[in-house]
Amino acid sequence: MIIAPSLLAADFGHLAKDAVRAAKSGASWLHLDIMDGHFVPNISFGPHVVKTLRPLSKLFFDVHLMCSKPEILLEPFAQAGADEIIIHVELGDAVAPLIWKIRALGKKVGLAVNPPTSITLALPHLEHIDLLLVMTVNPGFGGQTFIHECLPKIQQAAAWRLEKHLDYRIEVDGGINNQTVAECAAAGADTFVAGTALFSRRNMKAAVAKMQKIADANYPALADLKV
Ligand code: DX5
Ligand code: ZN
Repeated sequence: MIIAPSLLAADFGHLAKDAVRAAKSGASWLHLDIMDGHFVPNISFGPHVVKTLRPLSKLFFDVHLMCSKPEILLEPFAQAGADEIIIHVELGDAVAPLIWKIRALGKKVGLAVNPPTSITLALPHLEHIDLLLVMTVNPGFGGQTFIHECLPKIQQAAAWRLEKHLDYRIEVDGGINNQTVAECAAAGADTFVAGTALFSRRNMKAAVAKMQKIADANYPALADLKV
């Protein structure tokens, strides 16, 4: 079970300080949301910011590209210190070559699926990815309400993983708190992005530990995973 604090919920006036706070929270990943103002109606930050944060911790940098043209950004983010780069399945025919390019850059590959998008679009790519990200809000902003209709997609992703003997992680992103983390873990998710629910806490370490404990307690034994 991995808890990945999302830097989008940090204080943008003190990003470095909050990145260190995340590192000291006991989490091993940091989720970095990259928004281009086109794929989503918001703009966050770019490779230079990621590069600046890189030396401050040993956190695994989980870089989520919500961008229409990720091909122009893969190399800059790889060089800036991304450990994994996530692209969106909504990009259609561009997805397969993007996956290979990320792999060629020596980085882990993630594939994200938005709430209105069918999870079956991810099917042709499952053998080539390290992580499948089931978006549980429409991307663009932190602090939104979890969309419960996304839960069956997590179950489907977990069922495919079992059937096909694959080992991609199943990540959820959006509206994750101590209630929804339990529902997602029970459905088969093992990697949890949480912004508001962690950065808003004075004691982030305790918040991460609690979320981790709830995730562990609700994750089903393999035999219980339903198709
Ligand atoms: C949504 C982003 C999320 C966001 C989650 O567009 O992809 O990573 O930071 O924020 P919370 O946890 O506040 O819903
Ligand atoms: Zn994200």
